[in-house]
Amino acid sequence: MIAVYHDLCFVNLRDNLLQLPKMEIIPRITKLFSETFGAAPAHIARAPGRVNLLGEHVDYNNGFVLPAAIDRATYIAFSPMNSHQTTLVAADLNQQASFSPRTIPSKTQTDSSPLPDWAHYPAGVMWALLEANLAAPALNAVYASNVPRGSGLSSSASVEMAFMIAWQTLGSWKLPPMQRALLGQKAENQYVGVNCGIMDQFASACGVENNLLLLDCRSLEWKTILLPEDVAIVIADTTVRRKLTSGEYNKRRAACEEAVRLLQQDLPDIKSLRNVGVDDFNRLSGKLPDEVSKRARHVVEEIERSKQAKALLEAENVNRFGELMNECHNSLRDLYEVSCPELDIMVRVAQSLEGCYGARLTGAGFGGCTVNLVARENAEEFARALAKGYESETDLKPEIYITRASNGAELLI
Ligand code: GLA
Repeated sequence: MIAVYHDLCFVNLRDNLLQLPKMEIIPRITKLFSETFGAAPAHIARAPGRVNLLGEHVDYNNGFVLPAAIDRATYIAFSPMNSHQTTLVAADLNQQASFSPRTIPSKTQTDSSPLPDWAHYPAGVMWALLEANLAAPALNAVYASNVPRGSGLSSSASVEMAFMIAWQTLGSWKLPPMQRALLGQKAENQYVGVNCGIMDQFASACGVENNLLLLDCRSLEWKTILLPEDVAIVIADTTVRRKLTSGEYNKRRAACEEAVRLLQQDLPDIKSLRNVGVDDFNRLSGKLPDEVSKRARHVVEEIERSKQAKALLEAENVNRFGELMNECHNSLRDLYEVSCPELDIMVRVAQSLEGCYGARLTGAGFGGCTVNLVARENAEEFARALAKGYESETDLKPEIYITRASNGAELLI
């Protein structure tokens, strides 16, 4: 059976069943909230996942990224609590955890047991808010998500940004979305322990319906770019999840920092790989250890590619833009080494199909999803053929979404 997800609904192609994942989530968390806490929730918030079209592994090198918030999100039902204890139910995991400002530093629950890993994200948000002297009052919450976890679609950032909205609602403060994103990144860097850049939290906080977001990760200035109407973004989930990705991610980041340190001997003014042009890099790369040189080359060339993105999309030159996506995948596979056989198969099959402008892995890599830019008129057939081709080569059933760029994190009720 092949399932093709289309916008909010997924179409089961065999029996043409329509299901509405988003529509199911809100009643589910509302019901579970009432059952768990004995009253209906006061509020509901949502925060989307994201897909990135170009500029991969460059946010922490001060480059440009081009993500969009997607129409899959974390939804949270919540109410204020008149106590110190925050109690959360992760509906998808069927687990509960409780913490308070006192237990946050030791990553423990109010009964002194360790905080489960999934609760580090909301607890990290509370930690970052308290560090910033912003109120994070106790709350009861139930949350669930239709962003697949560990798939490169930023399920973690969507959880963080959903809790940011919850605490903003109850804490009587209001921050611009970019400031909320920065606090979420701080939570992930310093509390969860993943040295991520700003892209995921930014996209989840600042998303704009039907638009791509072009962010300069050095100045934090950003603009929207309308996606041409005759083009669809198709996300293909390999369903492969790699473990220990945060360790590999942190290693890539460390290699980039090492490259900057070594290149500073010849280019003393550089602060990040953003400051290194392709010509300078070609002249000096021989001085770097092999692995560091490969990692840095990906970043320098990817920043160059992403600089061209805006003009290409505004000129509706989707063909050239798609080629840059393909080049990006090759570079992530060969230089940055964050692909895997299943992602490479998914990309190869996609690139051979009619209507596909470009295909590449999206997000950190090591498994998860690819992003495909496809002529809208071919999108449905593309999704079917891609699922079939991938399954026949891997024996794995992929999930394919024809996605729509959505708004960023918001309070719904
Ligand atoms: C993860 C990180 C982002 C970014 C991407 C790779 O999603 O959270 O900050 O570095 O990987 O582009």
